[in-house]
Amino acid sequence: MGRLVVVSNRVALPQKRKQAGGGLATGILDALRGTEGIWFGWSGDVAVTQPTNPTVAQADGLTYATVDLTRKDHAGYYDGFSNAALWPLFHYRLDLVNFTRSDFAAYQRVNSFFADMLMPMLRPDDRIWVHDYHLIPMAESLRRAGAAQRIGFFLHTPFPPFGVLATLPHYEDLLRSLCAYNLVGFQTADDLTSFHDAVIRGARGAVLPDGNVRAFGHTLRAGAFPIGIDPDAIAEMAAPALKSRTLRRFEESLQDRRLIIGVDRLDYSKGLEHRFKAFASFLDHYPEHRGRIRFLQIATATRSEVPEYRHLRQRLSALAGDIAGRFSELDWTPIQYLNRSFSHRSLCGFLRISHVALVTPLRDGMNLVAKEYVAAQDPSEPGVLILSPFAGAAHELDGAIIANPYDPDAVAEALQAAMQMPLEERRERWQAMMETLRRNNITAWRENFLGALG
Ligand code: ADP
Ligand code: F6P
Repeated sequence: MGRLVVVSNRVALPQKRKQAGGGLATGILDALRGTEGIWFGWSGDVAVTQPTNPTVAQADGLTYATVDLTRKDHAGYYDGFSNAALWPLFHYRLDLVNFTRSDFAAYQRVNSFFADMLMPMLRPDDRIWVHDYHLIPMAESLRRAGAAQRIGFFLHTPFPPFGVLATLPHYEDLLRSLCAYNLVGFQTADDLTSFHDAVIRGARGAVLPDGNVRAFGHTLRAGAFPIGIDPDAIAEMAAPALKSRTLRRFEESLQDRRLIIGVDRLDYSKGLEHRFKAFASFLDHYPEHRGRIRFLQIATATRSEVPEYRHLRQRLSALAGDIAGRFSELDWTPIQYLNRSFSHRSLCGFLRISHVALVTPLRDGMNLVAKEYVAAQDPSEPGVLILSPFAGAAHELDGAIIANPYDPDAVAEALQAAMQMPLEERRERWQAMMETLRRNNITAWRENFLGALG
């Protein structure tokens, strides 16, 4: 069996793990464990000149091969087309899409550059697995450079309905690029349906009776492969994390108050403004909880060069300040809002001691935090997950309380239901979700995808 070569923009380099890498980095790291594979992508650094070779390092039985980007390429490819056009588009936020032809050119250029850097490292029997919206043209670029290996693509974000996709100039180019893969994978059946629809309506292609897709002279497989976690590893990490100094100090500061937690990158797709308003509505409608709970929102800053992210940060700081100003007492603050990142171990500890997790994105490919919250719980005293129906995770975690994030009062009601939920019901819901997480774990995700890639 050949090697597994993973290609993604973000690479969880050992020395950079503490930064909030997002679901892709967590997922791939877990999926690559024990495979002796190669992980290729951006180093996370910007350089004055374009490198001529990747930097190669060995760690944890894996080979990491990374390249720096020039400032201009980083601005056009990463801040520009990937995160100011594709990200909002794929999260149904047409109002935030900022397309420019020069960004699109940078996107194509960086994909070709990555392919040229990767090509000399490849062996004929390697399997190549490309990840996420930054690298949609990678298979075409690799084929142009002479690669004949099987190449699969997995999209970690949602794939939008055709009416949304079609607003993007050059969307046909993206569809053609996707159809150059041997296999294209999505998080949910809804995303797969949107892709099928786009192939039919946007590429005049066809979905064949065997489920394969034909378009642009290619036949490829397409499927839904919901990403999982390693629930037992999370559970094993969460319990001892409580003994750490960080967790002990934090628990002391709680003084037996119940904790409500949110953990997200500081991204408009995560619905943080709506969540803060929902929390204020909860304190308004159910004043009996004042002084008895605390809401901890960890929101690590990302993509700070993209204007919309900077604006969001300002708005959120103002909202958190408003809530604190309105409801705080001399000896109680309702909200603790942190823009820093934590080790995965500490995070799992925070999740374990939380009575409720608020996972209320307006749109999310999967949302691994929802899954990690469930896995981190104490089986004898599990907490309650409040989950948006617009997260991919809602397709699997039916033991959560589902609440529409666009209705702050509905989320406030869900919080009240979580506060009042009897232990027996909490255990039953947790048990059902944990079984799902064990069945659809990260190994199953990798094996199902690679099995379909062939
Ligand atoms: P996304 O990929 O959009 O960021 P996910 O919920 O799927 O969202 O994945 C986020 C991942 O990043 C999870 O594994 C989570 O534990 C991790 N993470 C999120 N915030 C932080 C943080 N502040 N510090 C460390 N890890 C974080
Ligand atoms: O999972 C979605 C995702 O966008 C990944 O592709 C990405 O690596 C992660 O979130 C974090 O975002 P960024 O790499 O831009 O910091």
